[in-house]
Amino acid sequence: MKNFLSVHDVVDVNVLADKALRLKSAPFLHQSLGKNKTMVLLFLNPSLRTRLSTQKAALNLGMQCIVMNVGQDGWNLEMEDGVIMNGNQAEHIKEAAGVISQYADVIGLRTFAGLTDREKDYAEFVLNQFVKYATVPVVNMESATVHPLQSLADLVTIREFQKIKRPKVVLTWAPHPRALPQAVANSFVEWMQKAEVDLSITNPKGYNLSPEFVKDTTVIHDQMEAFEKADFIYAKNWSSFEDYGKIVEVKENWTVSAAKMAKTNNAYFMHCLPVRRNVVVDDAVIDSERSLVLQQAGNREWAAQAVIKQILEAN
Ligand code: CP
Repeated sequence: MKNFLSVHDVVDVNVLADKALRLKSAPFLHQSLGKNKTMVLLFLNPSLRTRLSTQKAALNLGMQCIVMNVGQDGWNLEMEDGVIMNGNQAEHIKEAAGVISQYADVIGLRTFAGLTDREKDYAEFVLNQFVKYATVPVVNMESATVHPLQSLADLVTIREFQKIKRPKVVLTWAPHPRALPQAVANSFVEWMQKAEVDLSITNPKGYNLSPEFVKDTTVIHDQMEAFEKADFIYAKNWSSFEDYGKIVEVKENWTVSAAKMAKTNNAYFMHCLPVRRNVVVDDAVIDSERSLVLQQAGNREWAAQAVIKQILEAN
């Protein structure tokens, strides 16, 4: 594995999930692998889980880890090539990525969707510019369209809790007061399509995800129907793909409630966090015994560790 940018860099998602689970039971076995190596984590956007779990994963492998909030502490970066830099951007991505590569053996990058230019977001312009000019491997810590470290942790969590060989997994859209990217949902869909699960998506009309990600996955616009006999309910808000980056009015109530969960096969509740309580999901659901949100967050460490380990072994 040279870079870890999306599911397409993974040969077999189930094998990688198994590797993450093995690391969970023996986190410090590979400390010599990262000795005298440095991981630099760059955040252009906020984070709690990704920041701490990826840092912890690098430390578990014996690496040094440097974290920088580029969006706040660094120079404003110019991402476009060939521009006259006489505006607010003091440093070009070409030098920034090149310089950081002098200090790092592996770089992690978080850069959210701008949600104004769909073509640019879905071309992963910022991530790809960074990869183009970095000279060391890059790990995607959530980009404009995907969040693969989250999806790997989600898969690990499902594997830990599934009771049947091929569980029914439902990704449900849920409300949110702000326009959020589609990255977590897109990524969850493409990882589950490669996992041994029966996946369906439920969202209101106007919130269909990109066909490039949905492919032939079943989409149901009736949330209650979709929840029937589900083993895992994965809730997430995303803004409209069709009316790009906008919040489209929805008349029905899409908050995940105990009454809706009662339609399922006593399903586990999942969410990547952070979550808006009593907007996305009712307290009664997220505080119930069937909620896996903390286990998912815990598994972020082993997911990141499995990915970094594979990169260290390959480079
Ligand atoms: N789920 C997730 O990526 O959380 P953070 O945004 O806090 O890193």
